[in-house]
Amino acid sequence: MTNIATSTKESTARMSASRVIKGRVINVSNRLPILIRKHAGGARVERSSGGLATALEAGWRHQRGVWIGWAGTSPEQHIDPLLLKASQDRSYTLRSVSLTDDEIAKFYSGFANEIIWPLFHDMPSRCNFDPEYWEIYQRVNRKFGRVTAETATDDDFIWVHDYHLMLTASAMRQAGVSAPMGFFLHTPFPAPDIFEKLPWKKPILRSLLEFDVIGFQSDHDRENFAACLERLLPEATMESGSRRPQVRLGGRRTVIGTFPIGIDFDEFTRQAAEPAIEEHSAEIRRRLSGDTLVLGVDRLDYTKGIPERLKSFRLLLRRFPEQRGHITLVQVVVPSREEIPNYKHLRREVELLVSQINGEFTEPGWVPVHYIHRNLGREELLAYYRAADIGLVTPLKDGMNLVAKEFCAAQIDERGVLIVSEFAGAGPELRSGAILVNPNDFSEVAQALHDAATMSAEEKRNRMRLLRQIVKEHNVQRWIRSFLEAMPEAEVAGSKRGASDSGFQYTFNSRRDETMPGVALIATAHHPKVRPRYHIGSDAKLRVLGKASGED
Ligand code: ADP
Ligand code: F6P
Repeated sequence: MTNIATSTKESTARMSASRVIKGRVINVSNRLPILIRKHAGGARVERSSGGLATALEAGWRHQRGVWIGWAGTSPEQHIDPLLLKASQDRSYTLRSVSLTDDEIAKFYSGFANEIIWPLFHDMPSRCNFDPEYWEIYQRVNRKFGRVTAETATDDDFIWVHDYHLMLTASAMRQAGVSAPMGFFLHTPFPAPDIFEKLPWKKPILRSLLEFDVIGFQSDHDRENFAACLERLLPEATMESGSRRPQVRLGGRRTVIGTFPIGIDFDEFTRQAAEPAIEEHSAEIRRRLSGDTLVLGVDRLDYTKGIPERLKSFRLLLRRFPEQRGHITLVQVVVPSREEIPNYKHLRREVELLVSQINGEFTEPGWVPVHYIHRNLGREELLAYYRAADIGLVTPLKDGMNLVAKEFCAAQIDERGVLIVSEFAGAGPELRSGAILVNPNDFSEVAQALHDAATMSAEEKRNRMRLLRQIVKEHNVQRWIRSFLEAMPEAEVAGSKRGASDSGFQYTFNSRRDETMPGVALIATAHHPKVRPRYHIGSDAKLRVLGKASGED
Protein backbone atom coordinates (compact mmCIF):
# COMPACT_ATOMS: atom_id res chain seq x y z
CA MET A 1 0.00 0.00 0.00
CA THR A 2 1.32 3.42 -0.97
CA ASN A 3 0.46 6.50 0.93
CA ILE A 4 -0.07 10.10 -0.06
CA ALA A 5 3.02 11.41 1.71
CA THR A 6 5.52 9.04 0.26
CA SER A 7 3.95 9.15 -3.19
CA THR A 8 4.73 12.86 -3.62
CA LYS A 9 8.36 11.98 -3.01
CA GLU A 10 8.37 9.37 -5.71
CA SER A 11 8.51 11.40 -8.88
CA THR A 12 7.55 8.57 -11.22
CA ALA A 13 4.31 8.71 -13.21
CA ARG A 14 1.09 7.02 -12.21
CA MET A 15 0.66 5.27 -8.92
CA SER A 16 -2.25 4.35 -6.78
CA ALA A 17 -2.90 4.48 -3.10
CA SER A 18 -5.84 3.64 -0.99
CA ARG A 19 -6.49 4.21 2.61
CA VAL A 20 -9.43 3.44 4.83
CA ILE A 21 -10.38 4.52 8.30
CA LYS A 22 -12.59 1.54 8.76
CA GLY A 23 -14.24 2.36 12.02
CA ARG A 24 -15.48 5.52 13.65
CA VAL A 25 -13.70 8.74 14.52
CA ILE A 26 -13.52 9.12 18.29
CA ASN A 27 -13.02 12.78 19.14
CA VAL A 28 -11.56 13.41 22.57
CA SER A 29 -11.41 16.90 24.05
CA ASN A 30 -11.58 18.35 27.52
CA ARG A 31 -14.88 20.05 26.69
CA LEU A 32 -17.89 18.57 25.02
CA PRO A 33 -19.85 20.91 22.75
CA ILE A 34 -22.46 21.08 25.49
CA LEU A 35 -22.18 22.44 29.00
CA ILE A 36 -24.55 21.15 31.67
CA ARG A 37 -25.20 23.81 34.30
CA LYS A 38 -26.89 23.36 37.64
CA HIS A 39 -29.65 25.82 38.44
CA ALA A 40 -32.41 26.08 40.99
CA GLY A 41 -34.87 23.78 39.22
CA GLY A 42 -32.27 21.12 38.18
CA ALA A 43 -29.83 21.32 35.27
CA ARG A 44 -29.90 22.79 31.78
CA VAL A 45 -27.84 22.27 28.65
CA GLU A 46 -25.94 25.20 27.10
CA ARG A 47 -23.67 25.51 24.07
CA SER A 48 -19.95 25.54 24.99
CA SER A 49 -18.07 28.62 23.85
CA GLY A 50 -14.55 28.58 22.46
CA GLY A 51 -13.06 27.81 19.09
CA LEU A 52 -12.61 24.08 19.59
CA ALA A 53 -16.28 23.44 20.39
CA THR A 54 -17.55 25.72 17.59
CA ALA A 55 -15.30 24.21 14.93
CA LEU A 56 -15.69 20.57 15.85
CA GLU A 57 -19.44 20.81 16.36
CA ALA A 58 -19.77 22.29 12.87
CA GLY A 59 -17.29 19.91 11.28
CA TRP A 60 -18.86 16.75 12.68
CA ARG A 61 -22.47 17.75 12.05
CA HIS A 62 -23.11 14.88 9.63
CA GLN A 63 -20.54 12.36 10.85
CA ARG A 64 -21.06 9.36 13.01
CA GLY A 65 -18.73 8.45 15.83
CA VAL A 66 -18.23 9.39 19.45
CA TRP A 67 -17.19 12.63 21.16
CA ILE A 68 -15.64 12.09 24.59
CA GLY A 69 -15.24 15.04 26.95
CA TRP A 70 -16.27 16.92 30.04
CA ALA A 71 -19.75 18.45 30.21
CA GLY A 72 -18.76 20.77 33.07
CA THR A 73 -20.16 18.34 35.66
CA SER A 74 -18.91 16.45 38.72
CA PRO A 75 -19.38 12.69 39.32
CA GLU A 76 -22.35 13.06 41.65
CA GLN A 77 -24.44 14.81 39.00
CA HIS A 78 -26.78 12.47 37.12
CA ILE A 79 -26.60 13.78 33.59
CA ASP A 80 -27.36 10.64 31.57
CA PRO A 81 -30.84 11.71 30.37
CA LEU A 82 -29.52 15.15 29.32
CA LEU A 83 -26.56 13.57 27.55
CA LEU A 84 -28.79 11.05 25.82
CA LYS A 85 -31.12 13.79 24.65
CA ALA A 86 -28.16 15.86 23.35
CA SER A 87 -26.78 12.76 21.55
CA GLN A 88 -30.17 12.10 19.94
CA ASP A 89 -30.04 15.57 18.41
CA ARG A 90 -26.68 14.76 16.82
CA SER A 91 -25.27 12.25 14.35
CA TYR A 92 -22.61 11.16 16.87
CA THR A 93 -22.74 10.00 20.48
CA LEU A 94 -21.60 12.14 23.40
CA ARG A 95 -19.76 10.38 26.20
CA SER A 96 -18.97 12.33 29.31
CA VAL A 97 -15.91 12.23 31.56
CA SER A 98 -16.78 13.79 34.90
CA LEU A 99 -14.24 15.72 36.96
CA THR A 100 -14.19 16.05 40.74
CA ASP A 101 -13.96 19.53 42.27
CA ASP A 102 -10.29 18.82 43.07
CA GLU A 103 -9.64 17.84 39.44
CA ILE A 104 -11.42 20.93 38.14
CA ALA A 105 -9.24 23.08 40.40
CA LYS A 106 -5.89 21.35 39.74
CA PHE A 107 -6.22 19.84 36.28
CA TYR A 108 -8.52 22.25 34.41
CA SER A 109 -7.95 25.57 36.18
CA GLY A 110 -4.50 24.55 37.47
CA PHE A 111 -2.24 22.67 35.08
CA ALA A 112 -4.15 23.39 31.86
CA ASN A 113 -5.04 27.02 32.42
CA GLU A 114 -2.52 28.34 34.97
CA ILE A 115 0.50 26.66 33.40
CA ILE A 116 0.09 25.46 29.82
CA TRP A 117 -2.30 28.15 28.59
CA PRO A 118 -0.12 31.13 29.60
CA LEU A 119 3.12 29.33 28.70
CA PHE A 120 1.91 28.39 25.21
CA HIS A 121 0.78 32.00 24.70
CA ASP A 122 4.28 33.30 25.51
CA MET A 123 3.31 34.61 28.95
CA PRO A 124 5.49 32.58 31.34
CA SER A 125 5.29 35.20 34.08
CA ARG A 126 1.58 34.31 34.47
CA CYS A 127 2.39 30.63 35.13
CA ASN A 128 1.91 29.00 38.52
CA PHE A 129 4.17 25.92 38.38
CA ASP A 130 2.51 24.10 41.28
CA PRO A 131 3.84 20.48 41.38
CA GLU A 132 0.49 19.20 42.63
CA TYR A 133 -1.10 20.39 39.40
CA TRP A 134 1.21 18.04 37.51
CA GLU A 135 0.14 15.04 39.64
CA ILE A 136 -3.52 15.70 38.93
CA TYR A 137 -2.89 16.46 35.25
CA GLN A 138 -1.35 12.98 34.86
CA ARG A 139 -4.26 11.40 36.76
CA VAL A 140 -6.93 13.10 34.64
CA ASN A 141 -5.12 12.26 31.41
CA ARG A 142 -5.12 8.61 32.52
CA LYS A 143 -8.83 8.93 33.20
CA PHE A 144 -9.55 10.29 29.70
CA GLY A 145 -7.25 7.59 28.29
CA ARG A 146 -9.20 4.87 30.15
CA VAL A 147 -12.61 6.08 28.94
CA THR A 148 -11.30 6.33 25.38
CA ALA A 149 -9.72 2.86 25.60
CA GLU A 150 -13.10 1.44 26.73
CA THR A 151 -14.86 3.16 23.83
CA ALA A 152 -12.51 2.65 20.86
CA THR A 153 -11.86 -0.47 18.81
CA ASP A 154 -8.73 -1.07 16.73
CA ASP A 155 -10.68 0.02 13.62
CA ASP A 156 -11.42 3.45 14.98
CA PHE A 157 -9.38 6.60 14.63
CA ILE A 158 -8.83 8.45 17.91
CA TRP A 159 -8.50 12.20 17.50
CA VAL A 160 -7.42 13.98 20.68
CA HIS A 161 -7.70 17.78 20.89
CA ASP A 162 -5.74 20.41 22.71
CA TYR A 163 -3.34 21.05 25.55
CA HIS A 164 -5.48 19.57 28.32
CA LEU A 165 -4.84 16.06 27.03
CA MET A 166 -1.19 15.88 25.94
CA LEU A 167 -0.50 12.73 27.97
CA THR A 168 -3.43 10.63 26.75
CA ALA A 169 -1.48 8.83 24.01
CA SER A 170 0.90 7.18 26.46
CA ALA A 171 -2.03 6.41 28.79
CA MET A 172 -3.87 4.71 25.94
CA ARG A 173 -0.82 2.87 24.60
CA GLN A 174 -0.21 1.53 28.12
CA ALA A 175 -3.83 0.38 28.24
CA GLY A 176 -3.10 -1.65 25.07
CA VAL A 177 -4.91 0.57 22.54
CA SER A 178 -3.48 0.01 19.08
CA ALA A 179 -5.93 2.15 17.10
CA PRO A 180 -4.33 5.02 15.20
CA MET A 181 -4.24 8.26 17.18
CA GLY A 182 -3.92 11.88 16.17
CA PHE A 183 -3.50 15.04 18.24
CA PHE A 184 -4.35 18.60 17.23
CA LEU A 185 -3.14 21.59 19.23
CA HIS A 186 -5.66 24.44 18.97
CA THR A 187 -3.32 26.89 20.74
CA PRO A 188 0.09 28.15 19.61
CA PHE A 189 3.20 26.09 20.46
CA PRO A 190 5.99 28.19 22.03
CA ALA A 191 9.63 28.56 21.05
CA PRO A 192 12.24 26.50 23.00
CA ASP A 193 13.29 29.41 25.24
CA ILE A 194 9.74 29.54 26.59
CA PHE A 195 8.82 25.85 26.51
CA GLU A 196 11.93 24.78 28.37
CA LYS A 197 10.73 26.67 31.46
CA LEU A 198 8.17 23.90 31.96
CA PRO A 199 9.48 21.48 34.62
CA TRP A 200 7.65 18.55 32.94
CA LYS A 201 8.71 19.32 29.39
CA LYS A 202 10.32 15.98 28.56
CA PRO A 203 7.49 13.63 29.59
CA ILE A 204 5.09 15.86 27.67
CA LEU A 205 7.18 15.76 24.49
CA ARG A 206 7.66 12.02 24.83
CA SER A 207 3.97 11.39 25.28
CA LEU A 208 3.06 13.58 22.32
CA LEU A 209 5.36 11.44 20.18
CA GLU A 210 3.18 8.42 20.92
CA PHE A 211 0.52 9.90 18.64
CA ASP A 212 0.69 8.96 14.96
CA VAL A 213 -0.02 12.51 13.77
CA ILE A 214 0.43 15.82 15.57
CA GLY A 215 -1.22 18.86 14.00
CA PHE A 216 -0.53 22.56 14.55
CA GLN A 217 -2.37 25.71 13.52
CA SER A 218 0.59 27.29 11.70
CA ASP A 219 4.03 26.46 10.32
CA HIS A 220 5.45 28.71 13.01
CA ASP A 221 3.96 26.48 15.77
CA ARG A 222 5.13 23.32 14.01
CA GLU A 223 8.64 24.71 13.65
CA ASN A 224 8.69 25.69 17.33
CA PHE A 225 7.73 22.12 18.23
CA ALA A 226 10.49 20.72 16.02
CA ALA A 227 12.99 23.15 17.57
CA CYS A 228 11.94 22.01 21.08
CA LEU A 229 12.48 18.39 20.10
CA GLU A 230 15.88 19.21 18.71
CA ARG A 231 16.94 21.00 21.88
CA LEU A 232 15.27 18.89 24.55
CA LEU A 233 14.90 15.42 23.06
CA PRO A 234 17.92 14.89 20.78
CA GLU A 235 17.24 11.15 20.69
CA ALA A 236 14.17 11.96 18.53
CA THR A 237 15.22 12.19 14.90
CA MET A 238 13.51 14.29 12.26
CA GLU A 239 12.93 12.89 8.77
CA SER A 240 11.85 15.46 6.23
CA GLY A 241 11.93 13.50 2.96
CA SER A 242 8.16 13.05 2.64
CA ARG A 243 5.46 15.70 2.16
CA ARG A 244 5.13 16.22 5.92
CA PRO A 245 8.05 15.83 8.33
CA GLN A 246 8.11 12.76 10.53
CA VAL A 247 9.78 12.25 13.89
CA ARG A 248 11.21 8.92 14.86
CA LEU A 249 11.59 7.94 18.50
CA GLY A 250 12.13 4.41 19.83
CA GLY A 251 10.80 2.58 16.78
CA ARG A 252 7.70 4.80 16.44
CA ARG A 253 7.17 7.41 13.78
CA THR A 254 4.99 10.51 14.15
CA VAL A 255 3.88 12.79 11.34
CA ILE A 256 3.91 16.47 12.21
CA GLY A 257 1.89 18.85 10.07
CA THR A 258 0.21 22.23 9.78
CA PHE A 259 -3.60 22.23 9.55
CA PRO A 260 -5.06 25.73 10.01
CA ILE A 261 -8.55 25.39 11.44
CA GLY A 262 -11.59 27.01 9.79
CA ILE A 263 -15.32 27.50 10.26
CA ASP A 264 -18.40 26.17 8.50
CA PHE A 265 -18.46 29.11 6.08
CA ASP A 266 -21.57 28.07 4.17
CA GLU A 267 -23.60 27.60 7.33
CA PHE A 268 -22.57 30.99 8.78
CA THR A 269 -23.33 32.67 5.45
CA ARG A 270 -26.69 30.96 5.12
CA GLN A 271 -27.75 31.84 8.65
CA ALA A 272 -26.51 35.43 8.33
CA ALA A 273 -28.80 35.89 5.31
CA GLU A 274 -31.96 34.86 7.18
CA PRO A 275 -34.57 37.65 7.36
CA ALA A 276 -34.76 37.43 11.18
CA ILE A 277 -31.01 38.08 11.46
CA GLU A 278 -31.25 40.92 8.96
CA GLU A 279 -34.03 42.54 11.00
CA HIS A 280 -32.17 42.03 14.26
CA SER A 281 -29.04 43.55 12.80
CA ALA A 282 -30.96 46.59 11.49
CA GLU A 283 -32.48 47.00 14.94
CA ILE A 284 -29.01 46.98 16.54
CA ARG A 285 -27.86 49.71 14.17
CA ARG A 286 -31.00 51.80 14.81
CA ARG A 287 -30.53 51.61 18.55
CA LEU A 288 -26.80 52.36 18.59
CA SER A 289 -25.97 55.94 17.83
CA GLY A 290 -23.02 56.78 15.55
CA ASP A 291 -22.14 55.97 11.94
CA THR A 292 -19.43 53.38 12.44
CA LEU A 293 -19.97 50.30 14.57
CA VAL A 294 -16.79 48.53 15.74
CA LEU A 295 -17.21 45.02 17.15
CA GLY A 296 -15.05 42.92 19.48
CA VAL A 297 -16.19 39.39 20.45
CA ASP A 298 -14.05 37.28 22.77
CA ARG A 299 -13.87 34.90 25.67
CA LEU A 300 -12.82 37.12 28.57
CA ASP A 301 -9.19 36.00 28.41
CA TYR A 302 -5.97 37.99 28.90
CA THR A 303 -4.57 36.57 25.65
CA LYS A 304 -7.32 38.35 23.70
CA GLY A 305 -5.83 41.81 24.30
CA ILE A 306 -9.09 43.44 25.45
CA PRO A 307 -7.55 46.13 27.72
CA GLU A 308 -5.06 46.96 24.96
CA ARG A 309 -7.95 47.23 22.47
CA LEU A 310 -9.86 49.58 24.76
CA LYS A 311 -6.77 51.75 25.19
CA SER A 312 -6.36 51.89 21.42
CA PHE A 313 -9.99 52.93 21.03
CA ARG A 314 -9.48 55.63 23.66
CA LEU A 315 -6.44 56.87 21.75
CA LEU A 316 -8.52 57.04 18.56
CA LEU A 317 -11.08 59.26 20.30
CA ARG A 318 -8.32 61.47 21.73
CA ARG A 319 -6.35 61.75 18.51
CA PHE A 320 -9.28 62.11 16.08
CA PRO A 321 -11.87 64.26 17.88
CA GLU A 322 -14.00 64.39 14.72
CA GLN A 323 -14.78 60.68 15.30
CA ARG A 324 -16.47 61.41 18.63
CA GLY A 325 -20.19 60.87 18.39
CA HIS A 326 -19.67 58.91 15.14
CA ILE A 327 -17.87 55.73 16.13
CA THR A 328 -19.10 53.20 18.71
CA LEU A 329 -17.35 50.11 20.05
CA VAL A 330 -19.46 47.10 21.06
CA GLN A 331 -17.30 44.74 23.10
CA VAL A 332 -18.94 41.37 23.76
CA VAL A 333 -17.22 39.05 26.21
CA VAL A 334 -18.22 35.60 27.31
CA PRO A 335 -17.22 34.84 30.93
CA SER A 336 -14.40 32.31 31.02
CA ARG A 337 -12.32 30.43 33.63
CA GLU A 338 -13.70 32.67 36.35
CA GLU A 339 -12.10 30.74 39.22
CA ILE A 340 -8.58 31.72 38.13
CA PRO A 341 -7.16 34.88 39.76
CA ASN A 342 -5.72 36.27 36.49
CA TYR A 343 -9.18 36.11 34.92
CA LYS A 344 -10.83 37.81 37.92
CA HIS A 345 -8.31 40.68 37.68
CA LEU A 346 -8.88 40.96 33.96
CA ARG A 347 -12.62 41.41 34.41
CA ARG A 348 -12.03 44.24 36.87
CA GLU A 349 -9.47 45.84 34.57
CA VAL A 350 -11.76 45.71 31.53
CA GLU A 351 -14.78 47.04 33.41
CA LEU A 352 -12.75 49.89 34.88
CA LEU A 353 -11.42 50.88 31.46
CA VAL A 354 -14.90 50.78 29.89
CA SER A 355 -16.26 53.08 32.58
CA GLN A 356 -13.23 55.41 32.30
CA ILE A 357 -13.63 55.76 28.53
CA ASN A 358 -17.36 56.29 28.80
CA GLY A 359 -16.82 58.78 31.60
CA GLU A 360 -14.33 60.72 29.50
CA PHE A 361 -16.26 60.88 26.21
CA THR A 362 -19.99 60.18 26.58
CA GLU A 363 -22.25 62.92 25.18
CA PRO A 364 -26.03 63.17 25.13
CA GLY A 365 -27.17 60.56 22.59
CA TRP A 366 -23.79 58.77 22.27
CA VAL A 367 -22.03 56.26 24.52
CA PRO A 368 -18.64 55.27 23.03
CA VAL A 369 -18.31 51.73 24.47
CA HIS A 370 -21.15 49.23 24.88
CA TYR A 371 -20.00 46.32 27.02
CA ILE A 372 -21.86 42.99 26.95
CA HIS A 373 -20.75 40.33 29.44
CA ARG A 374 -22.59 37.14 28.50
CA ASN A 375 -22.70 34.21 26.11
CA LEU A 376 -24.71 35.26 23.05
CA GLY A 377 -26.91 32.82 21.15
CA ARG A 378 -25.90 32.14 17.54
CA GLU A 379 -28.65 34.42 16.13
CA GLU A 380 -27.71 37.38 18.30
CA LEU A 381 -24.01 36.89 17.53
CA LEU A 382 -24.71 36.83 13.80
CA ALA A 383 -26.85 39.96 14.06
CA TYR A 384 -23.91 41.81 15.67
CA TYR A 385 -21.49 40.47 13.06
CA ARG A 386 -23.80 41.72 10.29
CA ALA A 387 -24.42 45.06 11.93
CA ALA A 388 -20.71 45.82 12.40
CA ASP A 389 -18.67 48.04 10.08
CA ILE A 390 -15.36 46.98 11.60
CA GLY A 391 -14.39 43.66 13.18
CA LEU A 392 -11.64 44.39 15.70
CA VAL A 393 -9.77 41.17 16.52
CA THR A 394 -6.59 41.99 18.41
CA PRO A 395 -5.33 39.08 20.53
CA LEU A 396 -1.81 39.38 21.95
CA LYS A 397 -1.35 35.77 20.85
CA ASP A 398 -3.87 33.25 19.47
CA GLY A 399 -3.72 29.80 17.86
CA MET A 400 -6.11 30.83 15.09
CA ASN A 401 -9.05 33.01 16.23
CA LEU A 402 -12.31 31.94 14.68
CA VAL A 403 -14.10 35.19 15.50
CA ALA A 404 -12.14 36.81 12.66
CA LYS A 405 -13.40 34.14 10.25
CA GLU A 406 -16.98 34.22 11.55
CA PHE A 407 -17.08 38.01 11.07
CA CYS A 408 -16.04 37.61 7.40
CA ALA A 409 -18.51 34.79 6.76
CA ALA A 410 -21.36 36.89 8.16
CA GLN A 411 -20.44 39.93 6.02
CA ILE A 412 -22.69 38.87 3.17
CA ASP A 413 -23.09 42.44 1.90
CA GLU A 414 -19.27 42.91 1.88
CA ARG A 415 -19.49 46.13 3.87
CA GLY A 416 -17.22 45.44 6.82
CA VAL A 417 -13.49 45.82 7.37
CA LEU A 418 -11.46 43.31 9.40
CA ILE A 419 -8.63 44.56 11.63
CA VAL A 420 -6.67 41.57 12.90
CA SER A 421 -3.63 40.97 15.07
CA GLU A 422 -0.46 39.79 13.39
CA PHE A 423 -0.02 37.44 16.38
CA ALA A 424 -3.19 35.41 15.75
CA GLY A 425 -3.00 32.41 13.40
CA ALA A 426 -5.73 34.17 11.39
CA GLY A 427 -3.49 37.24 10.87
CA PRO A 428 -1.02 35.89 8.32
CA GLU A 429 -3.74 33.78 6.72
CA LEU A 430 -6.04 36.79 6.14
CA ARG A 431 -3.41 39.44 5.54
CA SER A 432 -4.32 40.01 1.88
CA GLY A 433 -7.75 41.47 2.75
CA ALA A 434 -7.48 42.55 6.38
CA ILE A 435 -5.63 45.40 8.07
CA LEU A 436 -2.90 43.73 10.13
CA VAL A 437 -1.88 45.34 13.41
CA ASN A 438 0.42 44.83 16.36
CA PRO A 439 -2.04 44.89 19.32
CA ASN A 440 0.66 46.32 21.61
CA ASP A 441 0.99 49.34 19.36
CA PHE A 442 -2.05 51.41 20.41
CA SER A 443 -1.15 54.13 17.96
CA GLU A 444 -1.12 51.68 15.04
CA VAL A 445 -4.48 50.20 16.08
CA ALA A 446 -6.01 53.69 16.48
CA GLN A 447 -4.77 54.60 13.01
CA ALA A 448 -6.13 51.33 11.56
CA LEU A 449 -9.54 52.13 13.09
CA HIS A 450 -9.44 55.57 11.54
CA ASP A 451 -8.41 54.16 8.14
CA ALA A 452 -11.17 51.55 8.26
CA ALA A 453 -13.80 54.12 9.30
CA THR A 454 -12.88 56.38 6.40
CA MET A 455 -12.22 53.69 3.75
CA SER A 456 -14.12 53.88 0.45
CA ALA A 457 -16.98 51.45 -0.10
CA GLU A 458 -15.16 50.00 -3.10
CA GLU A 459 -11.98 49.21 -1.19
CA LYS A 460 -14.01 47.64 1.62
CA ARG A 461 -15.86 45.46 -0.86
CA ASN A 462 -12.68 44.35 -2.62
CA ARG A 463 -11.00 43.47 0.66
CA MET A 464 -13.99 41.64 2.09
CA ARG A 465 -14.53 39.69 -1.12
CA LEU A 466 -10.97 38.41 -0.89
CA LEU A 467 -11.34 37.56 2.79
CA ARG A 468 -14.56 35.66 2.22
CA GLN A 469 -12.91 33.60 -0.52
CA ILE A 470 -10.08 32.60 1.80
CA VAL A 471 -12.42 31.75 4.70
CA LYS A 472 -14.67 29.77 2.37
CA GLU A 473 -11.79 27.78 0.93
CA HIS A 474 -10.01 27.13 4.24
CA ASN A 475 -13.15 25.90 5.96
CA VAL A 476 -13.61 23.41 8.78
CA GLN A 477 -14.48 20.56 6.39
CA ARG A 478 -11.13 21.03 4.68
CA TRP A 479 -9.37 21.11 8.06
CA ILE A 480 -10.86 17.74 9.00
CA ARG A 481 -10.12 16.21 5.62
CA SER A 482 -6.53 17.31 5.55
CA PHE A 483 -5.88 16.08 9.09
CA LEU A 484 -7.38 12.65 8.40
CA GLU A 485 -5.52 12.52 5.14
CA ALA A 486 -2.22 12.86 6.98
CA MET A 487 -2.90 9.47 8.56
CA PRO A 488 -1.50 7.26 5.78
CA GLU A 489 1.95 8.49 6.67
CA ALA A 490 1.31 7.29 10.18
CA GLU A 491 0.07 4.00 8.84
CA VAL A 492 3.57 3.32 7.57
CA ALA A 493 4.67 3.74 11.16
CA GLY A 494 2.82 0.53 11.99
CA SER A 495 -0.69 1.43 13.17
CA LYS A 496 -2.96 -1.60 13.00
CA ARG A 497 -6.15 -1.74 10.91
CA GLY A 498 -9.07 -4.14 11.10
CA ALA A 499 -12.52 -4.82 9.69
CA SER A 500 -15.03 -2.16 8.78
CA ASP A 501 -17.77 -0.57 10.83
CA SER A 502 -20.67 1.58 9.71
CA GLY A 503 -19.19 4.81 11.07
CA PHE A 504 -16.98 7.33 9.33
CA GLN A 505 -15.41 5.86 6.27
CA TYR A 506 -12.77 7.70 4.40
CA THR A 507 -11.26 6.08 1.35
CA PHE A 508 -8.77 7.58 -1.05
CA ASN A 509 -7.61 6.52 -4.45
CA SER A 510 -4.67 8.67 -5.33
CA ARG A 511 -2.73 8.95 -8.54
CA ARG A 512 -0.44 11.25 -10.42
CA ASP A 513 -2.01 13.05 -13.38
CA GLU A 514 0.34 14.29 -16.08
CA THR A 515 -2.45 16.31 -17.69
CA MET A 516 -2.53 18.69 -14.75
CA PRO A 517 0.66 20.71 -14.40
CA GLY A 518 1.61 21.63 -10.86
CA VAL A 519 -0.60 18.92 -9.44
CA ALA A 520 1.15 16.36 -7.29
CA LEU A 521 -1.79 14.03 -6.67
CA ILE A 522 -5.40 13.52 -7.59
CA ALA A 523 -7.43 11.94 -4.80
CA THR A 524 -10.95 10.56 -4.95
CA ALA A 525 -12.84 10.05 -1.73
CA HIS A 526 -15.69 7.54 -1.65
CA HIS A 527 -18.28 8.68 0.83
CA PRO A 528 -21.60 10.47 0.28
CA LYS A 529 -20.58 13.26 2.66
CA VAL A 530 -17.05 13.67 1.43
CA ARG A 531 -15.99 15.80 -1.50
CA PRO A 532 -15.41 13.40 -4.38
CA ARG A 533 -12.54 15.11 -6.17
CA TYR A 534 -9.75 17.39 -5.16
CA HIS A 535 -6.06 17.63 -5.73
CA ILE A 536 -2.96 18.23 -3.73
CA GLY A 537 -0.68 20.61 -5.60
CA SER A 538 3.07 20.38 -5.69
CA ASP A 539 2.94 23.25 -3.20
CA ALA A 540 1.27 20.71 -0.85
CA LYS A 541 -1.99 22.72 -0.91
CA LEU A 542 -5.33 20.97 -1.30
CA ARG A 543 -7.66 22.40 -3.97
CA VAL A 544 -11.18 21.54 -5.02
CA LEU A 545 -11.94 20.03 -8.42
CA GLY A 546 -15.59 19.14 -7.86
CA LYS A 547 -18.37 19.41 -5.32
CA ALA A 548 -20.53 16.93 -3.46
CA SER A 549 -23.85 17.70 -1.84
CA GLY A 550 -23.46 18.95 1.71
CA GLU A 551 -19.96 20.14 0.95
CA ASP A 552 -18.62 23.59 0.21
P1 ADP B 1 -11.03 30.71 21.73
O1 ADP B 1 -11.10 29.34 21.24
O2 ADP B 1 -9.72 31.04 22.35
O3 ADP B 1 -12.15 31.11 22.61
P2 ADP B 1 -11.82 31.64 19.03
O4 ADP B 1 -11.95 33.02 18.51
O5 ADP B 1 -11.10 30.72 18.14
O6 ADP B 1 -11.13 31.73 20.47
O7 ADP B 1 -13.24 31.04 19.28
C1 ADP B 1 -14.20 31.68 20.07
C2 ADP B 1 -15.55 31.09 19.77
O8 ADP B 1 -16.42 31.43 20.84
C3 ADP B 1 -16.16 31.61 18.50
O9 ADP B 1 -16.83 30.57 17.84
C4 ADP B 1 -17.12 32.68 18.99
O10 ADP B 1 -18.27 32.82 18.19
C5 ADP B 1 -17.51 32.18 20.35
N1 ADP B 1 -17.76 33.32 21.27
C6 ADP B 1 -16.87 34.18 21.75
N2 ADP B 1 -17.47 35.10 22.53
C7 ADP B 1 -18.77 34.81 22.53
C8 ADP B 1 -19.91 35.37 23.17
N3 ADP B 1 -19.85 36.44 23.98
N4 ADP B 1 -21.10 34.78 22.95
C9 ADP B 1 -21.18 33.70 22.15
N5 ADP B 1 -20.14 33.12 21.54
C10 ADP B 1 -18.95 33.66 21.73
O1 F6P C 1 -9.46 27.06 21.59
C1 F6P C 1 -8.79 27.10 22.79
C2 F6P C 1 -9.65 26.63 23.95
O2 F6P C 1 -8.86 26.49 25.05
C3 F6P C 1 -10.33 25.33 23.77
O3 F6P C 1 -9.56 24.22 24.04
C4 F6P C 1 -11.42 25.50 24.73
O4 F6P C 1 -12.49 24.67 24.49
C5 F6P C 1 -11.80 26.94 24.55
O5 F6P C 1 -10.61 27.59 24.28
C6 F6P C 1 -12.60 27.50 25.70
O6 F6P C 1 -11.95 27.39 26.92
P1 F6P C 1 -12.55 26.60 28.13
O7 F6P C 1 -12.81 25.21 27.68
O8 F6P C 1 -11.53 26.73 29.20
O9 F6P C 1 -13.86 27.28 28.49
